[in-house]
Amino acid sequence: MKHVVVLTGAGMSAESGIATFRDSGGLWEQHRVEDVATPEGFRRNPQLVLDFYNARRKAAFAAKPNAGHVGLADMEREYKVTIITQNVDDLHERAGSTHVLHLHGELKKVRSTVDPSLVYELTPEKPDIHVGDKCAKGSQLRPDIVWFGEAVPMIEEAIREVETADVLVVIGTSLNVYPAAGLLNYAPAGVPVYLIDPNNVVASRSGVHYIHKGASEGVGELRSLLRKTP
Ligand code: OAD
Repeated sequence: MKHVVVLTGAGMSAESGIATFRDSGGLWEQHRVEDVATPEGFRRNPQLVLDFYNARRKAAFAAKPNAGHVGLADMEREYKVTIITQNVDDLHERAGSTHVLHLHGELKKVRSTVDPSLVYELTPEKPDIHVGDKCAKGSQLRPDIVWFGEAVPMIEEAIREVETADVLVVIGTSLNVYPAAGLLNYAPAGVPVYLIDPNNVVASRSGVHYIHKGASEGVGELRSLLRKTP
């Protein structure tokens, strides 16, 4: 079975109603990154940060996978599929994908600020955390999200997956954020790279096959292109 590795970003979930970051009207127009997505911001105003992620988490719980997520999950019948996502929602899993690496953490999880191994899962019935909510060791809980300036623990595993790709697919990411954006360079030479995005994204690699469509339509086109390729 061919190994298809798929790197996804916020645009993957746009058709599920989840806001992207850098598009016009995106999250980073309404919030300062320094305030809500850095350890310094959390130290300065923890409740502001918790509220930001509480709102994101509620939106993610309410959203449903779109045809793009479902199409990628269906591809497991024909290929070995590894999804490497920058997204913090769980729409890939809810669509049925079984091998998903979250580079930037997961909204539904929260963890201790002193012991990162103490992780708890929130539910749609209890989707919020607040200042004063503590782990088993008595320390404040924080979102299990990788903030700017923090290490990306899953990157080594992601690199190993990309190194064994027979096909690389990039969907709905502006490729602004490293180390995620650098993953394209780990695909072996000669591996076909497909990039699905309705807008112009500049990939740091030549020979990319661009599919200028939204995620749902784009995944459909990708599947018919792959069927025609031996
Ligand atoms: P961006 O908001 O930077 O990019 C979203 C991409 O999705 C853009 O290239 C859009 O053109 C594209 N897009 C919009 N609608 C689409 C659709 N319907 N179908 C497919 N693509 C569409 O989001 P990311 O690249 O994911 O990290 O951002 C990377 C990281 O920056 C995020 O994981 C987040 C953010 O800050 C952290 O917060 C740590």
